[in-house]
Amino acid sequence: MRADVDREPLDTRATPLTAKSQQPSTKHYLQPLDAASLPSWQALQKHHLAMQRFNMRDAFEADAGRFNAFSASSCGLFLDYSKNLITGETRDLLIQLARESGLGEAIQAMFAGEPVNASECRPALHTALRRPVGDRLIMDGRNLMRDVHDALGNMTEIVGRIHNGLWRGHSDRAITDVVNIGIGGSFLGPELVSEALLPYRHPSGVRCHYLANIDGSEFHELTTRLDADTTLFIISSKSFSTLETLKNAEAARAWYLNSGANAQKLYRHFIAVTSNNQAAIDFGICEKNIFPMWDWVGGRYSLWSAIGLPIALAIGMTNFKELLSGANAMDRHFLNEPFESNMPVLLATLGIWYRNFWDAQAYAFLPYDHYLRNFVKHLQQMDMESSGKSIRQDGSAVSCETGPVIWGGVGCNGQHAYHQLLHQGTALVPADFIVPVVSHNPLADHHHWLYANCLSQSQALMCGKNLQEAEAELRAKGLSEVDVQRLAPHKVIPGNRPSNTLVMETLDPRRLGALIALYEHKVFAQGVIWGINSFDQWGVELGKELGSGVYSCLTGFDPPPAADCSTQGLIDYFRRRHRG
Ligand code: F6P
Repeated sequence: MRADVDREPLDTRATPLTAKSQQPSTKHYLQPLDAASLPSWQALQKHHLAMQRFNMRDAFEADAGRFNAFSASSCGLFLDYSKNLITGETRDLLIQLARESGLGEAIQAMFAGEPVNASECRPALHTALRRPVGDRLIMDGRNLMRDVHDALGNMTEIVGRIHNGLWRGHSDRAITDVVNIGIGGSFLGPELVSEALLPYRHPSGVRCHYLANIDGSEFHELTTRLDADTTLFIISSKSFSTLETLKNAEAARAWYLNSGANAQKLYRHFIAVTSNNQAAIDFGICEKNIFPMWDWVGGRYSLWSAIGLPIALAIGMTNFKELLSGANAMDRHFLNEPFESNMPVLLATLGIWYRNFWDAQAYAFLPYDHYLRNFVKHLQQMDMESSGKSIRQDGSAVSCETGPVIWGGVGCNGQHAYHQLLHQGTALVPADFIVPVVSHNPLADHHHWLYANCLSQSQALMCGKNLQEAEAELRAKGLSEVDVQRLAPHKVIPGNRPSNTLVMETLDPRRLGALIALYEHKVFAQGVIWGINSFDQWGVELGKELGSGVYSCLTGFDPPPAADCSTQGLIDYFRRRHRG
C-alpha cells in the first residue's frame, strides 16, 4: 500500500521559504481538524472498547507470524512492535488517523520549509542540516544549502586546527580542553552524541566538557580541573540571551582573566555559536570566531548544526558527517516510505493509541547501552518541549490529551529500581527498549546477558504471570498450601503491557543519527495529529520573566513585596542569611 507521501525524494529546488512563512495559510496542518472528530478517531474509540479483552500472550500463541507482521526496518534500525495491544485492524485505523490528520501534507511542508512553526512564523528545517552537498533549497533567493555547507566547511577547518594543535592559546600552547557553555538544546544533544560515540573519539586527545547550569558548584568542579592557558570555551546559544549561558560565559571570561592570561588574546579562548552575532560581538567574541545558527532550526533540533561543534571535536568531522548522513537516511525514509512501514509514523501512532485511547500518561525509554545513558535527557527536551502543549496551531484549545511524561534510564540498572512499577504498578506505561547486538567492549559474556535482560524485560511485560502459574511455582518449591495462598497474589504480574524494541547491529555514528532523527520525526508526527505546534516553547518563558522579579527581591535595597506570601516567605528566608 502507498502512503500519502511521494516515493520520489522531495524536490525542494525552487521553494521560496520566507515568502510562504509570511502568508496566512489555509494548510491543513496549520488549521488542524479536531482529531477527536475524525472518523478514524471515532472508529478507534469503538475499537478500543473491543480491545479490552485483547491479550497479547494469546495473540502470540494464536499467530506465529505476529513478529513478522508487526516489525519494520530501515537505516540500520530494526523495530519490533509486535508486543503491543494491537491487531492488524488497530494499525489500519491508526494509519487512517495519520492520513485524515493531513500528516502526509505536513511532512512535505516541513521538508519544503513551510512555516510549520506557525506561532513564530518559521520553518523547522533541521532536516536541511543533514542534506548532502549538491542539494538546493532556496530561501529569500539564496540557496540555503550553501550556508549549511559553508558552516560545515568552517567547522572542518577549526576542528582540524584544534585537533592538530594549530589553534593555540594566549601562551602559545595547544588547546587540550574545550568547554561547551550552553543549556537545553545547546547542551543536551551535543552531550548525548559526544558521549554515545566515545568509542569513535578522535585520537587528538582533546577533551570536551559541558557547562550548563547556573549553579556555581558546576562551574567550580569543572574549572578546578582545567588550565586556562589551554582551555577553549564555546559559548553555544542560539539567542545569546539565555541567563544561565551568559552568566557562565561571564564567569569563564573572569576565570580566564584572573588566571593572569593576556586580555588581548581572549579571542584565542572564546568562540560562539549563535544566530545573534551582535550580542556575541558585544560580549567580546571576535567576529571570525562566530559560527552561525539560524532561526529556522529549533534549539532541541540543533545538534546537527554548528551547535554540534563539541561533537565534531570529540569524534572528528568524518564521524560527524556520518552522523548527519544517518539522520538524512531516516529523513528520506520518513518522507518516502508508505505509512504502513514508516517507522516514525508507526511509533507516533502507537504513542497516540496509548496516550489518547488507553490514557497512558507516561512513556518510558529504556536503552540497554551504557553509551546511550544520556538519551532520555535529550528525549525529554525533544519530546516534552515539543508536545507539552494545550493549544493547537490555530489558537484553539486541544480536545484531547497531548504529550506524555517522558522518563526512563539505562538498562539493566532500571530493573533494580523503577521496573517494579512497570511490571506491577497500576499505571500503564508503554516502553521503548533500545539495544545493539554487538558491544563496543565485549567482556566475557556480559553483552549476552545484557541483551538477554533487555528481551526478558519486554517478554515479562507482555506475558506476565497469572495466578495459576504463581501458585504452581510456589507449590513446586514445596511451600505449604497456606503460604502458597498467602504469597501467590503478590507474585502475579498482570502482563499485557506494551513495548517496542529497537535493535541495531552496533551503536555507530550513522545508526545514532538515524535513531535520533527517528524520534524527532515521531514527535513531529504526533504533533500534527494533535494539531499542535511542535516547534515553539512559550511555556518556559513565564518562569524566566518571574525569575528577574524574584532576583530583584533577593538583591534590591527596598524591594516591593512579592505577589504571594509563599514566595515572600522564601525570599525573606534567603535575605536573612545574605543580609549586609
Ligand atoms: O528555555 C528553553 C530554551 O529556549 C530551549 O528551547 C533552548 O534549547 C534553550 O532554551 C537554550 O536556548 P539558547 O540556545 O538560545 O541559549
